[in-house]
Amino acid sequence: MEILSPSGRLHLRRRLLVNPLALLAALWVVGFGSVFLWQTSGFRILALGPAPPRRAPALRPAAFNLTDFGGVGDGSTLNTAAFEAAVAAIAGLAGEGGGQLNVGAGLWLTAPFNLTSHMTLFLAEGAVILGVQDEKYWPLMPPLPSYGFGREHKGPRYGSLIHGQNLKDVVITGHNGTINGQGQSWWTKYRKKLLNHTRGPLVQLMWSRDIVISNITLRDSPFWTLHPYDCKNVTVSNLTILAPVEGAPNTDGIDPDSCEDMVIENCYICVGDDGIAIKSGWDQYGIAYGRPSTKILIRNVTVRSTVSAGVSIGSEMSGGVSNVTIENLHIWKSRRGVRIKTAAGRGAYVRDITYRNISLDAVRVGIVIKTDYNEHPDEGFDPKALPTIKGLSFSGVRGQGVRVPVRMYGSEKIPIKDVTFQDFAVGITYKKKHIFQCSYVEGRVIGPIFPAPCDNLDRYDDDGKLVKKSKSQNITDIDYYL
Ligand SMILES: *[C@@H]1O[C@H](CO)[C@@H](O)[C@H](O)[C@H]1NC(C)=O
Ligand SMILES: *[C@@H]1O[C@H](CO)[C@@H](O)[C@H](O)[C@H]1NC(C)=O
Ligand SMILES: *[C@@H]1O[C@H](CO)[C@@H](O)[C@H](O)[C@H]1NC(C)=O
Ligand SMILES: *[C@@H]1O[C@H](CO)[C@@H](O)[C@H](O)[C@H]1NC(C)=O
Ligand SMILES: *[C@@H]1O[C@H](CO)[C@@H](O)[C@H](O)[C@H]1NC(C)=O
Ligand SMILES: *[C@@H]1O[C@H](CO)[C@@H](O)[C@H](O)[C@H]1NC(C)=O
Ligand SMILES: *[C@@H]1O[C@H](CO)[C@@H](O)[C@H](O)[C@H]1NC(C)=O
Ligand SMILES: *[C@@H]1O[C@H](CO)[C@@H](O)[C@H](O)[C@H]1NC(C)=O
Ligand SMILES: *[C@@H]1O[C@H](CO)[C@@H](O)[C@H](O)[C@H]1NC(C)=O
Ligand SMILES: *[C@@H]1O[C@H](CO)[C@@H](O)[C@H](O)[C@H]1NC(C)=O
Ligand SMILES: *[C@@H]1O[C@H](CO)[C@@H](O)[C@H](O)[C@H]1NC(C)=O
Repeated sequence: MEILSPSGRLHLRRRLLVNPLALLAALWVVGFGSVFLWQTSGFRILALGPAPPRRAPALRPAAFNLTDFGGVGDGSTLNTAAFEAAVAAIAGLAGEGGGQLNVGAGLWLTAPFNLTSHMTLFLAEGAVILGVQDEKYWPLMPPLPSYGFGREHKGPRYGSLIHGQNLKDVVITGHNGTINGQGQSWWTKYRKKLLNHTRGPLVQLMWSRDIVISNITLRDSPFWTLHPYDCKNVTVSNLTILAPVEGAPNTDGIDPDSCEDMVIENCYICVGDDGIAIKSGWDQYGIAYGRPSTKILIRNVTVRSTVSAGVSIGSEMSGGVSNVTIENLHIWKSRRGVRIKTAAGRGAYVRDITYRNISLDAVRVGIVIKTDYNEHPDEGFDPKALPTIKGLSFSGVRGQGVRVPVRMYGSEKIPIKDVTFQDFAVGITYKKKHIFQCSYVEGRVIGPIFPAPCDNLDRYDDDGKLVKKSKSQNITDIDYYL
């Protein structure tokens, strides 16, 4: 019943005006479709003029419209006070199930504002929340405790455009409305070293639980796009996340950071840094904070990242990362597919990570593990705090146009343990030697795979019978110049 959708209707009308052949076809379809339409919409398909805007569903007992609080969606009026008044009204309804704030079509410029618990922010089709570019409107906040540092600069950092702390039951959804950070000016100032503080994320929720973010577009964040920090029970679904693939520094798509019980699904992400980067704090600060990212499921996500990778773990992982499943992931025209990055000084662990049904389409390096990502907050890190990496499983990996399918760079101090490859067939662009690169890797290959694996791995047949035990787990065949 495609023709029942508003966009389908518009399409039909346009064709009626221009193409006689399409007109005949369309009349036929209309005649046919009208049988279904008659009872529900009484032939509204033939009415002229634009389709009426889709009504926002009622998702809370009470609903407000931003215009009720004096909001003006002209792209130049600052709506910070309207957003704050709406949030205050909803905060007053916490005992009665909270409230919903509808943002209609329009360009709603605003400075950063905070959300409240039991709140639904609903962005209608054509609604765009625009972040004000002048940094004097962006409040400074203390550094994240597990980073001890703003990340780019010492001391305080800019808060996020849409922010929340210690909240529960928050929904951000809509009919694909947009939150646009207008990051261009931030990226330029960052490059010219004109900023004295770390840039702010687009959406950041801290110490919160029961969060749903779905059916919206996030675009041009000044810094990381969606940053759930030390949160529990977070669902991220049906999002489009966009930033220029070049020249938009650190615009990661989604950064689950010390989060537990999180699902990311059905998203399209095309950004200037990692598509998704699972983190848990930085060196001695992250070790002291001690909160892992765990029980995370990522599925049915399409990513493009020409600067970094589709899905990363780290490099900040000092609270540990475990029990992550990544499945039905498609990465295209990217520098790297999936990546784990860490370094001496990080401590903690990356373990029990399952990658299933991963497709790599024109990706330079497919699977990457880097254990010398030596970027530290300050000189106070402990070089003896060595992370452990173990329990990684890759199956159903497919690809075409991949230059280096695997580069797993462990070291004597940080070896990579218990890695499994099964059902792996990746089309390569270059040559066959030294493209399955390993160093200090212990693990196994089950059944035939293409291209041929490194000698570091034990070989099993399809029935799980040992065929050849590796005697050279520690040999190094890494070539960054391939
Ligand atoms: C908000 O109110 C305006 C003006 O009354 C109306 O045009 C718009 O459709 C409403 N939007 C929503 C999302 O309810
Ligand atoms: C949001 O709340 C936090 C914590 O209370 C506060 O530090 C911050 O300044 C608030 N941000 C805005 C824009 O009001
Ligand atoms: C939502 O909007 C984005 C940006 O305009 C677009 O790329 C995407 O296809 C839209 N998603 C849906 C489900 O319509
Ligand atoms: C950064 O600090 C310098 C020196 O204190 C000051 O001149 C400049 O305005 C500051 N820039 C911003 C964006 O705050
Ligand atoms: C997780 O959050 C959702 C959305 O608020 C809620 O419906 C669900 O009950 C929560 N699950 C748990 C286990 O708390
Ligand atoms: C998101 O959109 C899908 C498809 O239109 C719809 O089924 C789902 O209910 C929407 N979610 C919310 C929270 O509105
Ligand atoms: C995402 O969209 C699908 C349909 O496309 C819908 O079934 C699902 O409920 C949506 N998820 C959320 C959290 O809205
Ligand atoms: C996968 O996600 C895309 C959006 O990126 C969506 O259109 C599609 O329906 C999803 N597929 C399933 C099986 O949920
Ligand atoms: C791993 O995470 C899944 C959810 O992603 C959860 O159902 C399961 O219980 C977790 N397993 C362990 C051992 O924590
Ligand atoms: C594998 O993932 C792709 C998306 O990348 C999806 O279209 C396909 O249905 C998945 N296959 C299975 C068997 O789940
Ligand atoms: C490989 O090096 C590790 C130290 O990282 C050592 O414990 C192990 O015995 C070595 N294994 C082989 C097969 O040489």
